[in-house]
Amino acid sequence: MGDSKRGFVPRGTNPQNKKRNGRCWTGTAGAGTVAEESTQIHTPRRGALPPAATNVGTVHVVGLETITDADWRQVIAGEPEPWGGVGESLRWRAKTHNLGVRDDAGKLVALAGVLLAEARVAGAPLQVAGIGGVIVTRVARGRGLARVMIERALQIAGELPAERAMLFCLPRNVPLYSKFGFQLIPEPVFVRQPSGMIEMPMRAMWNPLAHDAHWPAGRVELPDEPF
Ligand SMILES: CC(C)(COP(=O)(O)OP(=O)(O)OC[C@H]1O[C@@H](n2cnc3c(N)ncnc32)[C@H](O)[C@@H]1OP(=O)(O)O)[C@@H](O)C(=O)NCCC(=O)NCCS
Repeated sequence: MGDSKRGFVPRGTNPQNKKRNGRCWTGTAGAGTVAEESTQIHTPRRGALPPAATNVGTVHVVGLETITDADWRQVIAGEPEPWGGVGESLRWRAKTHNLGVRDDAGKLVALAGVLLAEARVAGAPLQVAGIGGVIVTRVARGRGLARVMIERALQIAGELPAERAMLFCLPRNVPLYSKFGFQLIPEPVFVRQPSGMIEMPMRAMWNPLAHDAHWPAGRVELPDEPF
């Protein structure tokens, strides 16, 4: 599933004093680190990130400036419709912070992305850290790689000026994301597609990044494409 290429550079500062403990994180910069501009984001966007322990050993986590079509093809590895056909039918936004796991041969085996996005709930703007594009190559599933991607994505989300993370997923993955503190957004969510605004045909979930964050009641809209 190639993201559409529309970029979005988060600006502003992070109300870290309201953030939940453990979400603020400083990564070790690898070669080719790209400096963040006018933000307090410490996670480098490109290069080696601290390795992660999984139930099958330590894995190499990398920041990717963008996820190319070749990267997607490498991770999807010929699997037909890993997003159940629904995900493949939609247009998605490119993320600003992209993560991957490489195997010992340097091949990408997992991906995820994060971006700062504006939602509207009952007409009021709400900044969210959107997480998406989570995939583990089929032969590497069940080894904890999605856990690595989701936990790192939440660390990055915690550095963005948003008090809530948000994502879209297939119903079969709701129990997976619940393990990481995500809760279902009960209201339908409307998103932009080339055909206009549509009701999102996937589950929407959110995760508080601040102690006192709640999800406000009301119709949810993303004025842009989903993430
Ligand atoms: C969903 C997906 C990312 C999971 O990847 P994975 O590497 O197998 O997941 P992990 O091994 O890291 O699992 C992490 C934890 O979630 C659990 N888990 C994984 N998938 C689950 C599911 N569908 N429902 C419930 N729990 C799940 C695991 O048991 C594990 O639990 P534990 O840490 O308590 O033991 C992978 O199956 C995939 O890429 N699917 C196709 C694309 C997709 O659906 N992506 C998600 C888009 S929203």
